Amino acid sequence: MKNYKITVLKGDGIGPEIVDEAIKVLNVVGEKFGFTAEYDFQLMGGCAIDATGHPLPPATIDACKNSDSVLLGAVGGEKWETLPGHLRPEAGLLGIRAALGLYANLRPARIFEPLKAASPIKAEIIGDNLDIMVVRELTGGIYFGERGRCEKNGEKAAFDTMLYTVPEIQRIAKVGFEMAQKRSGRLCSVDKANVLESSRLWRETVLEMAKDYPDVELSHMYVDNCAMQLVRRPTQFDVIVTSNLFGDILSDEASMLSGSIGMLASASLADGKFGLYEPIHGSAPDIAGQGIANPLATILSVAMMLKYSFGLDDAATAVETAVNDAMKTARTPDIYEEGFEKVGTVEMGDLVVELLNR
Ligand code: IPM
Ligand code: MG
Repeated sequence: MKNYKITVLKGDGIGPEIVDEAIKVLNVVGEKFGFTAEYDFQLMGGCAIDATGHPLPPATIDACKNSDSVLLGAVGGEKWETLPGHLRPEAGLLGIRAALGLYANLRPARIFEPLKAASPIKAEIIGDNLDIMVVRELTGGIYFGERGRCEKNGEKAAFDTMLYTVPEIQRIAKVGFEMAQKRSGRLCSVDKANVLESSRLWRETVLEMAKDYPDVELSHMYVDNCAMQLVRRPTQFDVIVTSNLFGDILSDEASMLSGSIGMLASASLADGKFGLYEPIHGSAPDIAGQGIANPLATILSVAMMLKYSFGLDDAATAVETAVNDAMKTARTPDIYEEGFEKVGTVEMGDLVVELLNR
């Protein structure tokens, strides 16, 4: 039987609670679909700072490199907010993305039928099968450019730099084009080419590549317009490909279309099959330890792992179906609507497991 080695980074806040549910689900999927999973628990983020003084201990990077994929909860919390930037929990997350070469971040925003009424956007705008895939560049751009403190006109100042090389743009655009080919064939490249030089290079590069993908209908959109269009007419989008910073912002926005940020999964992929899977929401310290966090985004991240790292599409679909069906009767507080059973983190995980076993 195939055995997958998975490094698990539970992280901080609600991280441990939601990851426990995702592991429960993964174990059951293994029994059903004929594989085993072996977990290597490692530290990253605030918990790693507390234990080792550093948000990303070398042992964590080694463990990830020696595994088939990585499952991550969430990192960060008030406790570590006053630390200098390079020692904050978030630095662990950025560090692991860089160390593992995870340049392609897939963030699907789709509407689950039972949750339609939970979207803050009107039902007629959401339509029947909203399904957007944000492909976000994850290891370049302003997140990783030169930054620092300086002086300007005798005043205290600071700067960050948005820099992209052509190969960096090409490899993420390729992911976007290929994703569009597998879906409806539409790709929207989002930039700020009316102002930013890095965006002009981005657009030029994507345009040049379009010649190799005659079957993909390519469009370009400025990021401010895209932010507006996502709430005005979200159904116009299929695959969006964009830079690190724009993708960060737009994926949070897109997540609300689907009702709750507690529902959105993500995959961060390197070349090949290796990937890190995490919910896009944060560590939610305000509700940590109360057993009320929504584990579904993490469970859906497991579905993405099954699909993208293990090539088990049927298993992935089974998990997504179980999640969809769980929401027909039970809701965690973030997606609660009258008439449903209000459940906590563990009950929601149990329900998904029960539905998978049915
Ligand atoms: C995300 C998060 C991270 C990011 C933070 C926590 C560093 O917002 O994964 O979207 O900005 O990439
Ligand atoms: Mg973000």
